[in-house]
Amino acid sequence: MNHFLDIHTTDPTALRGMIDSAIAMKQARNGRPKGTPDDDRVLDGRMVALIFEKPSTRTRVSFDVGVRQLGGQTMVLSGKEMQLGHGETIADTARVLSRYVDLIMIRTFEEATLLEMAEHATVPVINGLTNRTHPCQIMADVMTYEEHRGPIAGKKVVWAGDGNNVCASFIHAAGQFGFDFTFTGPQTLDPEREWIDFAREKGVTVAVERNPEAAVTGADLVVTDTWVSMHDPESAKERRHNQLRPYQINERLMGLAKPDALFMHCLPAHRNDEATSAVMDGPHSVIFDEAENRLHAQKAVLRWCLGV
Ligand code: CP
Repeated sequence: MNHFLDIHTTDPTALRGMIDSAIAMKQARNGRPKGTPDDDRVLDGRMVALIFEKPSTRTRVSFDVGVRQLGGQTMVLSGKEMQLGHGETIADTARVLSRYVDLIMIRTFEEATLLEMAEHATVPVINGLTNRTHPCQIMADVMTYEEHRGPIAGKKVVWAGDGNNVCASFIHAAGQFGFDFTFTGPQTLDPEREWIDFAREKGVTVAVERNPEAAVTGADLVVTDTWVSMHDPESAKERRHNQLRPYQINERLMGLAKPDALFMHCLPAHRNDEATSAVMDGPHSVIFDEAENRLHAQKAVLRWCLGV
């Protein structure tokens, strides 16, 4: 059974196949109304549970639409409204849901919840974000880069700001897809050492550079994310903003990247905090392609999980 739990725990050949499949599916749908199913309807008769213990716009809508385009059906569940939120164990929830549905996608807080769900489910489980990683987002990001600029292997990707869960999955992707990665941000927000070690062991360069100008110089892709994540306390906000202001992606900083560099942000954004509107809406930005590609990339993930 194929769970899609993280990029670093998924076979690189399978990851490559999913990106290629996502691009092909997107091209095949070009111009079709969004509500129409794909010709092959490979999820015909399949039911997918989408569980959210945290808010979501992109993940929720793109998974829902993606399953329907593949000919399947969905049920969107709020963790709070399930017995899961009132003391039923994750293991029992996984066993029960497996009797009803063909696949479970879960967005949750603790990575342990995702792993326990996968351990006890008898159907595939997809990670729709935990406090530690966000692999579906980075599949869409790799797809978006390659759609615009060709192979990402050997390119220089720079992450500015907080070394958060999205950053973690980007570092995993560096190892699996073979690109170099530079993190620039304050030391207190460094990505975890084990993520960096994973990518380095795969033979790519992972650098930590405190100076944002030096980091961004010569970049093929510049990425940032919100300075305060969903799982961070509100009390962290003022300190985070003070620490991260030098790492804001603005036109001056973006101008140090290669002339054809791309800019990405997984959204939602706090405009004019982590990135200025001039960059987000500027010529380097592919943020809305990135959001759209959640749909196509996740359709490829769903197909891989179900072997269809
Ligand atoms: N990028 C992302 O996962 O967006 P949502 O939180 O809206 O799902």
